[in-house]
Amino acid sequence: MASMIWQIISDGVGEDKYIPPMTTQLLGKVNIPITLAPMVGISHVAVRLMLREYLPEGAVTLWPTEMLNSRKIPKQDLTENPLSLRGEEETELSPQILGNEEIPIKESVACLKDWGAESIDINMGCPVNKALRHNYGVSLMGDIGYARDVVAMTVKHTDLPVSVKIRAGFQKDRDFLKRFVLALQDGGASWLTLHPRLASEKRRGRADWSQIQFIKEILDIPVIGNGDVQNCTDVFEMLEQTGCDMVMVGRALTARPWLLWQVGASLGFEPPPGRRSDELPRTPEMEAIEYGRSLMTLLKYTKQYYEERLGLVRLKFYVKTSNVWLNFGHSLFTQTRVCKTYDDFENTIKKFFESNSLAMTQKTDLRE
Ligand SMILES: Cc1cc2nc3c(=O)[nH]c(=O)nc-3n(C[C@H](O)[C@H](O)[C@H](O)COP(=O)(O)O)c2cc1C
Repeated sequence: MASMIWQIISDGVGEDKYIPPMTTQLLGKVNIPITLAPMVGISHVAVRLMLREYLPEGAVTLWPTEMLNSRKIPKQDLTENPLSLRGEEETELSPQILGNEEIPIKESVACLKDWGAESIDINMGCPVNKALRHNYGVSLMGDIGYARDVVAMTVKHTDLPVSVKIRAGFQKDRDFLKRFVLALQDGGASWLTLHPRLASEKRRGRADWSQIQFIKEILDIPVIGNGDVQNCTDVFEMLEQTGCDMVMVGRALTARPWLLWQVGASLGFEPPPGRRSDELPRTPEMEAIEYGRSLMTLLKYTKQYYEERLGLVRLKFYVKTSNVWLNFGHSLFTQTRVCKTYDDFENTIKKFFESNSLAMTQKTDLRE
């Protein structure tokens, strides 16, 4: 049983590594140290359901949504809104909200609980101008007391765990970061996720993992590390180097959805249900084939949940984000970009994966 061997994992070459057991504090049931990052345009129902097909048997993790605006949530039908569509079978949903005002937050968390949320994540990392103008997202990192109050007011209005996703802040200032994360913990946050880049860096430069280690050593609550993880080795390196409880993966999980399976296999989990007789994709060629297969699965779920126009926008954006690990990936992107129908998209994917000699790389330049 995977949970029995959770603390000791093998890196596949006979060395055992120690993994802290804090993950189970996440909802009391999370048992695998990898989760998808909230991403606008990407962390939607079709992607989540496709990724779930790669989750090992018995593994439990958190599932984000796209960022949801707390001023809009109370006025929307969450079961109809494209940003918050969910599958009946989806559990461990951890929607991310953007906001800073008590009434909208109070109403939003109530709506989200009815919708099926098992925890609420507050965005304090979004660096886009709109978030800065409205004083939410990473703006909240400009005022420690205010950020703490936003957490406390959210906690006050829900019995769900409340987590916060942050960046490294506005300037390289470890003392500030220390005071900031302690204030969030004091405000009642159940765990924090750190994407260790400054607000001004957006997604440029390199994520500074040492800051994850820094806050992990300070805090009593679990810490999820995030930033520039590209493959299974990176997942375990981040766990080991920083001591974080879990690794959140954004862009690379779109390219390598089977990272969930690879991490699970390293921990002794059984393969995903439905993949018992399949070999885990490991080689560059096997990974390329699996990428094509995952796009077909994504298409299936996109068709199920989205009308064609919006579905295609989402599929194209997904290919734009995920193609960079594949040789000839840019060609795939330019071919899918002009697709006008779901059938076009399907034929393009089939043809592309039949007619090219494809391989996926372990690491690529992660550009903006
Ligand atoms: C297309 C895209 C959309 C994103 N949207 C959000 C968001 O809505 N909320 C958030 O907290 N972070 C968002 N992020 C940041 C990611 O959650 C993550 O912190 C970042 O991509 C670094 O992780 P990675 O290197 O594993 O991709 C977004 C990133 C991308 C690429």
